[in-house]
Amino acid sequence: MGERHIPFDGPHQAGVLAPPAAQGWFAAFDLTKGATPARVKELLRTWTRDARLMTTGRAPSGDDSMALGHGPSSLTITVGFGASFLRSLGAPVPGPLEPLPVFPRDRLDARRGDGDIGVLLTADDAVVAAHALRALVRTARGTADVRWQMKGFNAIEGVTVKRGTTPRNLMGQVDGTGSPRPDDPGFDASVFAGPESDPAWMRGGSYLVFRRIRMLLDEWDVLPRVRQEQVIGRRKDTGAPLSGGTEFTAFDLGRQRADGGLAIGPGAHVRQASAAANSGAVILRKGFSYFDGYRADGTPDAGLLFLAFQSDPRNAFTRIQQRLALADELSRFIVHESSALFAVPPGVTHPAAYLGQSLVEAL
Ligand code: HEM
Repeated sequence: MGERHIPFDGPHQAGVLAPPAAQGWFAAFDLTKGATPARVKELLRTWTRDARLMTTGRAPSGDDSMALGHGPSSLTITVGFGASFLRSLGAPVPGPLEPLPVFPRDRLDARRGDGDIGVLLTADDAVVAAHALRALVRTARGTADVRWQMKGFNAIEGVTVKRGTTPRNLMGQVDGTGSPRPDDPGFDASVFAGPESDPAWMRGGSYLVFRRIRMLLDEWDVLPRVRQEQVIGRRKDTGAPLSGGTEFTAFDLGRQRADGGLAIGPGAHVRQASAAANSGAVILRKGFSYFDGYRADGTPDAGLLFLAFQSDPRNAFTRIQQRLALADELSRFIVHESSALFAVPPGVTHPAAYLGQSLVEAL
């Protein structure tokens, strides 16, 4: 498993389309006071070079040997820019990167949100993720410092018993079934900024919404299983829709039960989050569970690091979340605690190119 390698180079940064990884680490950086565009350019060039090495299992110069012999372990390193980054470099902020609105029920901790630069690291080995993060932080010294960092985990092939199993989240639900697939019609237009879109430096890139969502697990646990299934609109064991069929059967939102009620109720998460309920809004979800111990009140500090990639959050994440915050039955069992939005530029396709090059070279 340690030998698995996900190519760093490509039209899109690898973390967007990579399959689920066992580890998902996220670090947000703020530019150091006085960091010049020239320093930022140098940082992006160095990060690109080092990411290319580490994602093939090679060590960058001055390495600490932390992951020596571990292999690439499916490492991906994906870099995005926050609105504050563009403002400090004097570049215009694209419309899709305008701050997300405050949603009803949000309980956001500003110290663990936003940031100038966001880096998503995914890998099948925690040592490999930790090593890569340390290497990036070390080279950033003097130009950018860590603002906040979080990490989560997932089940992956080779760990779960059956191959191709959709992972479960900490509420015990099969999570990821309804996420769009690259061969779905309209996938690219939903996920990536198009070839004609503005600004030009984002063409082929994607906008990433990050939310740390705590699950109120003790309250969830006392809900009878049948109610838990109604809250989501899918069965807990197989993930099949309550309108019938198996996990990947399309759900039938009009289907009625014998008693006349809707099989997938009006407040069910999948109904409220569906493209049909949100004028066609589609997001590419990527989730990592986190379990950071127990809070002072004895409840688990656990939940989902929720990531969503899309071509424009204003008519994707924001539209869906505005509806979920009010109408989704699941919203009683979760708390959004951190939020960030980053413009993830396209990938690199030439050995001399670096991430964000067309943005920073136009400054
Ligand atoms: C802790 C918070 C959340 C949990 C536990 C959760 C859980 C689930 C589960 C179990 C499903 C059904 C299986 C699947 O398709 O993956 C689902 C579907 C979905 N969720 Fe969530 N979710 C959460 C937050 C969110 C948020 C914040 C959004 C977006 C704003 C969202 C958007 C969606 C969408 C778009 C679907 C697919 C609906 C469809 O099939 O059309 N979810 N979620």
